[in-house]
Amino acid sequence: MHHHEHHDHEHHHDHAKQPHPLDPARAARLDDASREAWFPTPRVIEALDVRSGHRVLDFGTGTARYALAVADAHADAQIVAYDVQDAMLDYARGKIVDAPPANLELIGTTFDAIAEHRFDRVMLFNVLHEIDFAHIQELRQVLKDDDAHMLVIDWNPDVEREVGPPAEHSLSLGEAQAMLVRAGFKTEVREDRQFPYHYVILARR
Ligand SMILES: C[S@@+](CC[C@H](N)C(=O)[O-])C[C@H]1O[C@@H](n2cnc3c(N)ncnc32)[C@H](O)[C@@H]1O
Repeated sequence: MHHHEHHDHEHHHDHAKQPHPLDPARAARLDDASREAWFPTPRVIEALDVRSGHRVLDFGTGTARYALAVADAHADAQIVAYDVQDAMLDYARGKIVDAPPANLELIGTTFDAIAEHRFDRVMLFNVLHEIDFAHIQELRQVLKDDDAHMLVIDWNPDVEREVGPPAEHSLSLGEAQAMLVRAGFKTEVREDRQFPYHYVILARR
């Protein structure tokens, strides 16, 4: 007897869509000025909406480009920049060795160090496609309250582009939203033409 089973389940991604995190040997690309044309720092700062006294986590900070900009724009907020790759953080530390901002802390290797803290804002830029589902669940736990939000900006595989990871290593907007919702977040998609290659999602607890 032939039993045909219909698997009309959702495709759950428990593991990162991109098999390896960005190679630290390519860190310098993250600091390339050309990124401003399609990932403008002033817009990032605006969308993040940091207020006085806020604690901000930059998860997967890379070279800390955006963490540094936020720290600079908001002297009255505390920024924690975290990355799993020490080589990335070494690169970031090299940039601030002469004048380390008082309100920026670089933390590496283990998420445990920050998991007990709560944040008003979480930055997740070009990282969602590199992390496992378990990390997304952890990120919800570090959001302080219902007013807190995580700003997710990631590569859109559904637009024509010559920069960024290939489409097969990127999450579609639908996949990204589904993962966030599955982790318990409430999501709001922000239309933003200043990010022609990315989608922008505001995720709340
Ligand atoms: C494409 S880079 C983006 C860096 C930065 N957010 C930016 O937009 O300039 C992705 C970063 O996420 C980091 N990363 C990947 N998986 C991670 C994890 N599980 N925990 C923390 N950082 C992670 C990588 O080491 C890399 O530095």
